[in-house]
Amino acid sequence: MSYGFLDIAVTPSVEAAQASMDSDHLWKDFKGHRKSDRFSENEAAFIAERDSFYMASVSETGWPYVQHRGGPAGFLKMVDDRTLAFADYRGNRQYISLGNLAADSRVSLILMDYSRRARLKIYAHAEMVPLDADPALTALVTAPEYRAKLERIFRLRLDAFDWNCPQHITPRFTEREIAAAVQPLRDHAAKLEAENAELRARLAAMESHSA
Ligand SMILES: Cc1cc2nc3c(=O)[nH]c(=O)nc-3n(C[C@H](O)[C@H](O)[C@H](O)COP(=O)(O)O)c2cc1C
Repeated sequence: MSYGFLDIAVTPSVEAAQASMDSDHLWKDFKGHRKSDRFSENEAAFIAERDSFYMASVSETGWPYVQHRGGPAGFLKMVDDRTLAFADYRGNRQYISLGNLAADSRVSLILMDYSRRARLKIYAHAEMVPLDADPALTALVTAPEYRAKLERIFRLRLDAFDWNCPQHITPRFTEREIAAAVQPLRDHAAKLEAENAELRARLAAMESHSA
């Protein structure tokens, strides 16, 4: 079955909350997200740039659990337009997400681009893939230059995604983005310094001639 994001998100109690806030008519027959069960080039480009995301899983006791996931930019791989995969690196060895997923494969992700003030929300079913199960998938998620121990792969089957508006996202920039933004200023400063040194040298030469 193909879902829109709201088909999953809007439960009876959510519907009741919307009704109580007089917003249910906005969403009841909303068709805008019907095609959100396949990633387009837009999502692919966004996902390829991310160096982190947050993933929520569900515990057997019903508690949501959210964890930060990080890696080199593009470490969340698009296998096809309905499948993502990422390397699960050794961390604090609590294995909370891994354990949660063994009992309930549903996950919810949020991917942030703070500099462009964009966010992408994803509903998916996740499965753990051992490193020796699918060599092509292991090769895809392996980042040889990244210093972390790869323990397993998580493969995510997309159920639905949704884009959020930029409201309340404070722009933040990575060191790499800041370095790129200030490079023209650095170049300009270096040019001025060179000019300054040349002018000082000329002035010194003129002063020594006139002395
Ligand atoms: C040495 C080390 C210590 C860590 N300690 C913590 C921690 O105290 N809290 C935390 O949320 N993540 C910590 N992390 C990161 C998590 O272990 C890592 O993100 C892992 O994916 C956790 O998965 P889980 O929360 O599903 O068990 C640590 C990572 C390393 C390498």
